Amino acid sequence: MSLLKDSKLVNTKDMLLKAQREKYAVPAFNIHNLETAQVVVEAAAEMRSPVIIAGTPGTFSFAGRDYIQAIIETATRKYDIPIALHLDHHEKFEDIQASVELGTKSVMIDASHLPFEENIRIVKKVVDYSHAHGATVEAELGRLGGQEDDLVVDEKDSMFTDPKAAKEYVERTGVDSLAVAIGTAHGLYKAEPKLDFERLAEIQKLVDVPLVLHGASGISTEDVRKSIELGVCKVNIATELKIPFSNALRQYLVENQEANDPRKYMAPAKAAMREVVIEKIKMCKSENRY
Ligand code: CO
Ligand code: CO
Repeated sequence: MSLLKDSKLVNTKDMLLKAQREKYAVPAFNIHNLETAQVVVEAAAEMRSPVIIAGTPGTFSFAGRDYIQAIIETATRKYDIPIALHLDHHEKFEDIQASVELGTKSVMIDASHLPFEENIRIVKKVVDYSHAHGATVEAELGRLGGQEDDLVVDEKDSMFTDPKAAKEYVERTGVDSLAVAIGTAHGLYKAEPKLDFERLAEIQKLVDVPLVLHGASGISTEDVRKSIELGVCKVNIATELKIPFSNALRQYLVENQEANDPRKYMAPAKAAMREVVIEKIKMCKSENRY
């Protein structure tokens, strides 16, 4: 089902397979409210780029699953590019169920902190449920360091994806896409990250499904493009959007101490975020694909 009768919300199956065939990546942008969602879909529509709008559990509890669902479904009626609403790093089956029942068609179940067999068992359950509702599933094997939402992973607990295990994992779970850990981390980097491209190439050789790169904030365009050449079809962007939005908003409010109209003070924040969205779509080479 969906909230709006003529919603055109899609899952990520076709958009990621097209990206895989044509060697680009679909950008997944984390949003938090109406304004940030508008910036992303407006820029993507102008650039004719497919787009994934992502929210973590923290975002959904902040803004409400039904509100976010209605905002993104409204966007799908206004623009004729493929738009997916995606559950980023969800861990609870009930949360996934709540959104899928509202009409969300793209899910990430993150069981990467669990032992291999338990990870497979939980992911398989989500895949069976989601596929029965027309939704696609991304899962993660290996573990990224850094902070995502309220989840903090120490560098010492991060773990690179093992290519052979990845093959078995994808076959046994039936996931539609796989998030890999190849040296990226969530949040901002303290030192220049070094990506393990040999490992990524090995994973690409053994695994058919589109691969997903998390923790791309702060990774050079060159390295992201190289990852795309090696099978990455979805690139997640979160931290790099929050920073320009907040900085521009702060600057405006500091410079205009009397400002009290959100229609005015949100404008420079949206404009600053928009530039980054455009830059990231170009980085992913996803413009003019539809
Ligand atoms: Co149902
Ligand atoms: Co992530």
